[in-house]
Amino acid sequence: MNHFYIKDNRLYAENFLVEDLAKEFGTPLYIYSKNQILKNYREINQPLVNSKLDFINCYAIKANSNPEILKLLAEEGAGAEIASGGELYLAHKFGYLRNKITFTGVGKTDEEIEYALKENIFNFTVESMQEVKVISEIAHKLGVIARVSIRVNPDIDAKTHPYITTGMKENKFGIDSKDIIEVFKTALKMPNIDVIGIHSHIGSQITDVDPYIEAVKYLGDLIKKVEAMGVNIRYLNFGGGFGVRYKNVLTHRYIPFEEDEIKEYASLGDHIESVIKLLSVYNKKLVIEPGRSLVANAGILAGKVLFIKQGEVKKFVITDTGMNDLMRPCLYQAYHQLVPLNLKDTGTETVDIVGPVCETSDFLAAKRCIQRLERGDRFAVMTTGAYGYSLSSNYNARLRPAEVLVDGDKYRLIREREKVEELHY
Ligand SMILES: Cc1ncc(COP(=O)(O)O)c(C=O)c1O
Repeated sequence: MNHFYIKDNRLYAENFLVEDLAKEFGTPLYIYSKNQILKNYREINQPLVNSKLDFINCYAIKANSNPEILKLLAEEGAGAEIASGGELYLAHKFGYLRNKITFTGVGKTDEEIEYALKENIFNFTVESMQEVKVISEIAHKLGVIARVSIRVNPDIDAKTHPYITTGMKENKFGIDSKDIIEVFKTALKMPNIDVIGIHSHIGSQITDVDPYIEAVKYLGDLIKKVEAMGVNIRYLNFGGGFGVRYKNVLTHRYIPFEEDEIKEYASLGDHIESVIKLLSVYNKKLVIEPGRSLVANAGILAGKVLFIKQGEVKKFVITDTGMNDLMRPCLYQAYHQLVPLNLKDTGTETVDIVGPVCETSDFLAAKRCIQRLERGDRFAVMTTGAYGYSLSSNYNARLRPAEVLVDGDKYRLIREREKVEELHY
């Protein structure tokens, strides 16, 4: 069961009417379901536990780094995949164990590397020859050994949006196949580097299992080659990327059905089961780095209609919720389902649902067929728990939204709406 659902034509978050929360805290408002996050985590984690493989499930905290969500997943036993010194600070502060923190990213600064070495995190995922040398130099200066995994770019098309594809030749991530052996050789010679693993993350929002199968085969061949060179590969890090449903998340007679949804859709359970089956033959400690799949469907963004404007060629529904609150539609032309909080039999129309920001790309939904909306109507942008608040900004000096966490028959504010005075800092 999904913890956001419709009953009597109204949208609920666990036991609460979303409309009531939106009235109490104002809009734009992120609302998260604690029980949905836990359900997602367990859906990914349990097959790993059942497999009896040694593993670390590292939450990619870039997806949503609200402190309460970080604490929740740390308490469940998750590790953290971090992409900056700031994320290391958050991971450390909110309960992630050092031996479960892995640091990825093509552009780590010297200061970040030093900080992570002093924190003694379990792994640096290295993305270039120069980086491995710099990590070695800084580790030498500190008199420590850095544990690293080498990230390979296997040139595999993850069949997702080009901006979230990471494993193809033209992407900046990982080390090209043609150079990878050389990087292993160089790293092996460095006294302050311990090469513990291989890493691959081919993209995000992957809805098809085939690219993963291709990546695992590639990694299998690579492991054989580097082990023949004398490298003791102990960790196989497979990244994240498990896709989630964005279209037709909720179905109802007043919500137009999107006919073009991809039908061949691997569920989270299918994804993880097939990946485990493939990876288990290598007999390594597995690391996975799920982000979106843990939190995306556990969050919604509630907004309100400000004005309706009939243009010459289009009708605009102008809302209080802009690209600074939710960047994904403008950044990736991402689709999010929009659900009016009070579903009514008013008929549908096709409109552009836009925000108040001074950019033409500021839209929540373009050419969307939706129930006729009026000034003052509230709605929810579904599946916004991942890369929603974490990509938000103060553009146009707008204030970042508040965040509320619902847990059965309780709810609480987990981040206040920003205040104008905070814009000074
Ligand atoms: C290295 C790495 N691991 C994990 C993730 C998380 O991916 P997702 O949120 O699609 O699971 C990302 C996201 O871009 C990433 O770059």
